[in-house]
This record gives sequence, C-alpha cells and structure tokens, in this order.
Amino acid sequence: MKIRRCAVLFIEPREDLGIDWAALFSGAGALSASLRWVALAPHLDRETTIDAAQVAALGAIGQTAWTERDDAERQVGAAMLDSLLALGLLLDDGSGENPARERDAVLRAQHWRPLSAAAHMFSRWDGMLVDKGMHFPSFEELVQAYGAPPEPGIAHGDSAHAIALPPAQPGPLDAQLLQRYTGRNYDPGAVLPLDVLARLLQRTFGAQAERMVAQEATVFKKTSPSAGGLHPTEAYVLAQRVPGVAPGLYHYHAVRHALEPMAALAPAQASELARQFVADQHWFVDAPVMVVMAARVVRNFWKYRNHAKAYRALMLDAGHLSQTFYLLATEAGIPAFVTAAVNEKAIERAFGLDPLSDAVLAVCGCGVAADGQTTLELRYEQ
Ligand SMILES: Cc1cc2nc3c(=O)[nH]c(=O)nc-3n(C[C@H](O)[C@H](O)[C@H](O)COP(=O)(O)O)c2cc1C
Repeated sequence: MKIRRCAVLFIEPREDLGIDWAALFSGAGALSASLRWVALAPHLDRETTIDAAQVAALGAIGQTAWTERDDAERQVGAAMLDSLLALGLLLDDGSGENPARERDAVLRAQHWRPLSAAAHMFSRWDGMLVDKGMHFPSFEELVQAYGAPPEPGIAHGDSAHAIALPPAQPGPLDAQLLQRYTGRNYDPGAVLPLDVLARLLQRTFGAQAERMVAQEATVFKKTSPSAGGLHPTEAYVLAQRVPGVAPGLYHYHAVRHALEPMAALAPAQASELARQFVADQHWFVDAPVMVVMAARVVRNFWKYRNHAKAYRALMLDAGHLSQTFYLLATEAGIPAFVTAAVNEKAIERAFGLDPLSDAVLAVCGCGVAADGQTTLELRYEQ
C-alpha cells in the first residue's frame, strides 16, 4: 500500500471570537478568542479541524509521488497515518472504494490552480437567505453604519494639464447602452416570448461560427470575448414562463441552438428553485427565465494549466456574457439582471453539476417589467 497527500491543501490558523460570559459578569474583557487549525481541502468540500501534530505530519508527506506505507509510518507513526487517511487528507492507492481518492482524482484532472480551487470550493453557498446572511442594506443604512462611501470617481495624474475630451458622439449602441438597467420588478403574470429567448440565448451564448484552429482543436466565435478563445461558460436555463418551453431545467446547446431538457418542473417548483438559486432575492424570482453561467473549467485550464490568472479569466468571461445578455434584453425592451449572490450548491444539485469541473459563477435573467418599482432600480431619467 502506498500513500500520498491530497493534491490541494491549505491550512488556516482560524480564530473564533465569542463572548466570554464569565469574564463579562466579573467585569473583565468580554471577548474570548480561541485558535484552531482548519484544513481546507477542495476535494473534500468541507472544512476539517485538525491538531498541530496532524499539521506537521501532513507537511511530511508529499502530494505528488506515492510513498510506501511502511516508510510513511516510520515518519509519522501508524496511528497518525490512519487518522489522516480517515479524514481524507492522506490517500492510499488501494483499489477499494474511497470517495476522497476519487474526488482528488477529479480535482487533479481539471488542472486547477490550488488557491483558485480553494477559493471556488469554499465560497459556495447553500441555503443562504436574504433574511439570514445575505441581507441587502439600503444606501441609507450603509452610510449610517460605515459613514460616507469613498467618492464615486477620482482624479489621478496631472489634473492641471488634463486634456479635455470632446463629448461622446451619439452612436448606434447608445440605444442599448443608455437604456440598460438592472430590473428588480418583474411582472409575475407576463411570459417571455420564445423568439425573444431564442435571440437572447443565441446571440449571448450561441456559437456564431466554428473555426478549426489546429488539428483536433476547434473554437467557437461568440459575441463576447473569452480568455484564450476557449468559451468555457455553459448556459443552464431555468424556464418558468416561456410559451413553447415547459417549466423546467434545460441546457442550452451552443451549436445546435436548442434547449436540452434536464428536468421537468411544476410551476410552483420552478418558482421555488428560482428563489433558492438567487438566495431568496425575491425581486428576481418572478423573472420568467434565469440563466445559470457555469464554467466548464477544464476547457480553460486545458490551456491555462495550474495558472495564476485562469480563475479570474473565468469570472471575467461570465461578466462579459452577462453584459451582452443585458444589452440584448434591453434591445427587446425588457430589463435584465445578473447576480453572484447565488446558492451554488442548490444550483449544482438541480442541474447535476460537479463544482470541481463545472464552476457555477453567476445567474442572470430577464423579463417584462412590472408597473411601478417596489425594489430599487437605477433607470436612466427619461
Ligand atoms: C457581478 C455583479 C453582481 C451583482 N449582484 C447583484 C445582486 O446580488 N443583487 C442585485 O439586486 N443586483 C446585483 N447586481 C446588479 C447591480 O446591483 C447593479 O448593476 C448596480 O446597482 C447598478 O445598477 P444598473 O445595473 O441598473 O446600472 C450585480 C451586478 C454585478 C455586475
């Protein structure tokens, strides 16, 4: 039997703050702090508290080459070895079922940058609700709590010699750029016509052309730029009210321009899933369509292997797509939204996505605006 450490492991000296009630009642300082080591191993998808001896033992066993168990035992002791194997932080090369080893293999196969894998896996939400941690305070509340925000724009450089630029000339993109706004009041009775959805999906996520750039290497040409031309972002659709598309979950096929059914939903179920997806942001739930942007990481990491900028590029790609989505929605005369405040784990479960290989990054949506504004929007003054 051979042993090695899991591919990616970060160990955080975590400080937990609490109220020391005894000290409080005796009039002393009321804040108590306790320290512990927290192992953050993305393949496990859970935090694990370990002790200092385990930290040292993990540092003695490498993650690349396999070590004979006897040698590892001589280094850290049999009991220590077993404790770390049981936690899934060390892995054996046995043939029996071992979920930790299997997840580690999935992680290795994607070529994640270790810090990015940890950042992605440990920033996902499950069951987050607006009235739990995801409260959106108003600007008034924020100013009250933090004082005035940093000014919205700054001068930087030689202001005395600044070159005054001519005003922006009107242009054909102005109609969309200047009408775009984040909609937070959707008409719960209105549908999204199929042709509007079709154009939105095709022109945002569809392949406008395919080009073979090397033998065995094809890239898509899309309306948004993408790092390395790789377009790793997949669009997963939650349809609530689109004539011709039954409520449910779909994958949008970028070449066939088709919605591939993944799960049928009753209307109430679809609405409940929408609420969960956007962490209970009720102002988005009535949008007739939501589109989950999930990066197929191995498409990008195939080129940008273990790359410091690769995860950033995935997020930037999603940002570009969401702006294109907004502009197309604006063209159709309807508002759109994008949010990163999403319950990734609920989305993964619904669509059957593995967070190590399909990274849910954001959700956008659109629909006909309701009369009046219950939740704040920043529309251009007419
Ligand atoms: C990355 C990103 C995340 C966002 N997340 C949220 C969100 O969680 N909830 C929300 O209501 N709006 C969200 N928005 C929309 C912004 O609040 C909105 O763009 C901003 O207030 C400016 O308004 P405008 O889009 O109408 O110009 C997000 C926008 C971006 C680009």
